[in-house]
Amino acid sequence: MDIHLDASGESRLHQALRRCWHPVAHVDELDAAGGRPLPVTLLDEQLVVVRLGDDIACFPDLCVHRGTALSLGWVDDGSQPAPDGSGTVGEPCLVCAYHGWSYDRRGIVRRIPAVHGRSIPARARVERLATSIAVGLVWVLLEPGPGGWEAPEAVYPLPDASTWWGVEGIRTIPIETYDWACSAARRVENFVDFSHFPWVHEGILGDRSKPLSPEHEVRDDGTTISFDIALEEPQASVKGDVAPGAVVQRDPTTYTLHLPLSVTLDQRLPPSADRPDGNRFVLFVAVAPLSARSCRSFTWNARTYKLDPSADAELAAFQAVILDQDRPIAESQRPEALPVDLSAELHIAGPDRASIAYRRRLAELAEAGAKSGIEL
Ligand code: FES
Ligand SMILES: [Fe+2]
Repeated sequence: MDIHLDASGESRLHQALRRCWHPVAHVDELDAAGGRPLPVTLLDEQLVVVRLGDDIACFPDLCVHRGTALSLGWVDDGSQPAPDGSGTVGEPCLVCAYHGWSYDRRGIVRRIPAVHGRSIPARARVERLATSIAVGLVWVLLEPGPGGWEAPEAVYPLPDASTWWGVEGIRTIPIETYDWACSAARRVENFVDFSHFPWVHEGILGDRSKPLSPEHEVRDDGTTISFDIALEEPQASVKGDVAPGAVVQRDPTTYTLHLPLSVTLDQRLPPSADRPDGNRFVLFVAVAPLSARSCRSFTWNARTYKLDPSADAELAAFQAVILDQDRPIAESQRPEALPVDLSAELHIAGPDRASIAYRRRLAELAEAGAKSGIEL
């Protein structure tokens, strides 16, 4: 495998990501909008996501009539006859705000009000993109393969969250979604990079007098890269499970990088009366490539302790502190995209092991993208 990618290789990676699932919105966010369509960006494409009945549909945010953004429109339940008395559409449609063309969940125009019941041109349709729901998020696949949007095939499966998502006795809260001006891969690499803790998160997650990275093995099963790491936390009380001021040597935390751009951090915390086997603190981040140089992070925080919702704000505030420290670092990195050419940056064999494995997989993904005929 050639891991020495040049600039066009980096672009092939960007193209290959079109064959992977990416998150575009929280399901709750879509429903909270009162059924209004939501404009989103993915890999430089302007899209619209909308709930149409039981389905969540995604289309290019562009009406085929005059190019108006479909996200300016609204949902019609399809139960009313047209003004000329012609039949009902019979299913929910996305109505364009400019001239009222109605698109069904397949992207087909079912009503053009200005011509009433006359026949609708076959070309009156927009592309329906593949969508899926996982971990409370709407995921979109721009290039679904030969089966089309109804039988999509992605390079990697959707992340497995079955050990915590929807599990009884675990409280899961959303952390506010945020955008960073760096590539999604840089953001993911920052999340699995623990050797920066003493430097960027000194006094919270690390201690500069103890910068040595613990030994660890990196596992790579082809769809995930994972490792276990036991760190000392100088200010563990921010997680709310120990008293303020306590320095805690944690049990191993398992990091699982779900290729290409999601990570689960699953940390084992000490037992409590109701949890003699120990507690868990889980952070799940799914990163969407908005462009080659910007990304959006969707985050869930799950815990088995302090289940009362009154503890939510403190834990969300803790995440905000950490993210504010990481952001200027990640946004300063050049090039903004993560170089998958391993010779482009200097790697240290121990602490950078997961990062090296990750870049190899991204190089492989770019190569697969090139072989499948995806070209610029
Ligand atoms: S531009 Fe959408 S209906 Fe005319
Ligand atoms: Fe960090």
